[in-house]
Amino acid sequence: MCGIIGYTGKKSAAKTLINGLHRLEYRGYDSSGMAVVYDGIISLSKKPGKLHVLTDELKRFPLEGNTGVGHVRWATHGVPNEINAHPHLDCKGQIAVVHNGIIENHQALKKRLIREGHKFTSDTDTEVIPHLIEKYYKGNLLEATRRATALLKGSYAICCLHSAEPSRIVGARCDSPLIIGVGEKENFLASDAPAILDHTKKVIFLSNLELAEISPEAINIIDYKGRKIYRKPAHIKWDISQAEKSGFKHFMLKEIFEQPEVIKNILKERLKGNRVHFEELAIKENLFRNIKNVVIVACGTAYHASLTGKYMMEELIRIPVWVDTSSEFRYRKPIVNKNTLTILISQSGETADTLHALREAKKEGAKTLAICNVLGSSIAREADGVIYTHAGPEIAVASTKAYTAQLTTLYLLTFYMGYLRRAISGTENARLLNELKKAARLSKLMLEGFKNSDNKIAKYARDFRKYYLKKHNKSTFLYLARNINYPNALEGALKLKEISYIAAEGYPAGEMKHGPIALIDENPWVVCVATKAKVYEKMLTNIQEVKARGGIIIAIVTKGDDRVVSQNINYIIEIPEIDDFFSPIVVVIPLQLLAYYVAREFGYDIDQPRNLAKSVTVE
Ligand code: AGP
Repeated sequence: MCGIIGYTGKKSAAKTLINGLHRLEYRGYDSSGMAVVYDGIISLSKKPGKLHVLTDELKRFPLEGNTGVGHVRWATHGVPNEINAHPHLDCKGQIAVVHNGIIENHQALKKRLIREGHKFTSDTDTEVIPHLIEKYYKGNLLEATRRATALLKGSYAICCLHSAEPSRIVGARCDSPLIIGVGEKENFLASDAPAILDHTKKVIFLSNLELAEISPEAINIIDYKGRKIYRKPAHIKWDISQAEKSGFKHFMLKEIFEQPEVIKNILKERLKGNRVHFEELAIKENLFRNIKNVVIVACGTAYHASLTGKYMMEELIRIPVWVDTSSEFRYRKPIVNKNTLTILISQSGETADTLHALREAKKEGAKTLAICNVLGSSIAREADGVIYTHAGPEIAVASTKAYTAQLTTLYLLTFYMGYLRRAISGTENARLLNELKKAARLSKLMLEGFKNSDNKIAKYARDFRKYYLKKHNKSTFLYLARNINYPNALEGALKLKEISYIAAEGYPAGEMKHGPIALIDENPWVVCVATKAKVYEKMLTNIQEVKARGGIIIAIVTKGDDRVVSQNINYIIEIPEIDDFFSPIVVVIPLQLLAYYVAREFGYDIDQPRNLAKSVTVE
C-alpha cells in the first residue's frame, strides 16, 4: 500500500504535497518523492527512508511550482532505494507518475517497451506507466493516460503530469483508491482523505476504471472508454486522526478489518489460474522436490503462524516439520543441513533473534527461505529466497493482518511444494485453492457481524471487566484449542496479554487433565475453540470438564452449532462453517476482536502498548 497525492493551484506545490504526504505516511514509509512542474521543466526530488529525509532534502533544494505529484512508498517490487522511489519518468523526463498498487503484467509490458526503444532505470512495476503514456502522448495527457492504463493488469491508482501541460494533473484508478479534493481555484488528487482535509472537505470518489483531469479551475472525469462522467462532490465528516485510520478508532481495528482484502490481494498476486506463483522466490523448484525436512523459525505471532504451517505441511505433504522460536533455535546447535529447508517468518524482517537464527541455519548449510512483509528487509535480503506477504504496512504493534497474511502464504507454499513433490494432484490442488478463496470470503462474512462497535464481543469484554474489578483485578484467561487451531490458542492469549496486560495462557486442550485443570474454578475465564472438526467431540468433553468446575467459558463455535450451545455456556461466538483445515484464518478473528475490546474497556493505548516495539531489533 502506498500513498499518492497531486496538487494544482496557487500555493507552493512542494509545501502542499509534503503536508499531504505526512498525512499519508501511515500507508507506507520505505521512501518518498515528488515531481513539480515549473517553467516547462519537471523537477524531481526523491529519497529512501522516512518522509523527514525528503523534507530535509527540500529544505536544502526547494522546488518551485504550483503543480506537482507526491508519493510515500510501501515497496512491493524493487527494494526501497532512491532509484525505485516514486515518481517515475518517461525517457524524455517530460512525464512523471506516482502509483499505488501492483501491475501484474509489468514484465511483459516492460519487455515490449524496451523492444520499442524505451530506456528503464528502476526495478519497479510502476515504471512501465510513464513509458506507456509517452508512447501514446499526442498532446493530450488525459487521452494518453486512458490508452496506457487500458493495457495494465492488476491494481493501480496513479497521478501523472506532463511538462507540456503545466497546470494539469491526470488521475486513474483500478482496485486502489483515488479521490478528488475540490478546492477554491485549486484541486487535489489523493489516495485517501487525510491528505487533503487541511484544504477541503469536498471530495469526489473516483470509481474503478475512471480517470480524472484536474486543473485549478476545472475537473473533468471520464470512464475507460472516454465517456464524460458527472459526479456531485461528497463531504467528509471525519476529523484528521480518524481519517488516517479510515474512520476506525485504532489502527489495530482497521488492520483486523483489512484482513479479508489482504488475503484476497495475496491470492490475486500469487495465483496464475490454478498454479501458485512466487515471482521473487529465487529458489529452484528442485530444492523443494528434494528436501528431506523443514524447519520453521520465528518469534511471537510469526511463531504461531509457523506452528500452524507445521500442521498444514505435515498433513498435506507428509514431510517432517520442526518449529522453533528464534531465540531458542539460535542457541541450541540446531540439527539442520543441506537437506533442510529453513523457513524464517518475520513481518518486519528485522527481528534480531530471527536474523541470527537465519545466519545460524546458513552456517549449518541449510537452504533458507524468508517469509516477510517488509520488502528489502534484512531477513529478506540475507535469506537464499524470499516470499513477501504483501499485507501492506502494519502500524499497530499487535500483529493481526500480518498473521493471516503469513497463514495464507503458508497455505500457498504448502500447495506449491505439495504439487512439486507430487503429494497433491491437480484436482486436489484446485479444490484446496477454492477452499482458501472461500476462507477469504468467510473472513469478510465473519467481520460483517462486527462492524458495529457495540457488538457481542464488546459486550463480553464489558462483562469481563466488571468481573475483573469485582474480583479485585485477579482474573486471568486460559485459551484452549486442539489440532490445527492450537496455535490460535497461543495467538489469542498473546493478543490479550499484549494490549490489555492481563495474564493469559494458550494451551492444548488435551493437556488440561495433565495439570492445568487444577486452575479451574470461576477463574480463569476459559476461551474454547470448539468449531466443527475431527476433534470436536474431544473439545465438547473439555468444555464439560471446565463447566463442571464452575469455569466461565467463551466458546468459538461453528454457526448453527446446537451441542455446545445446549451446554448452557456463558458466552458463544459463531464463525461461518468452514473446512477445518482452513479454519485458523477465520477462528483467529474473534480472538483478535476479544483482545481489542477488552483492552478498549480498560482504556489502554491499543496501538502502542507499554514496553513493546513493532520490531524487536535488539536481543
Ligand atoms: C505480535 O503481536 C507481537 N507484536 C510480536 O510477538 C511479533 O510478532 C514478534 O516480535 C515478531 O515480529 P516479526 O514478525 O516482525 O519478526
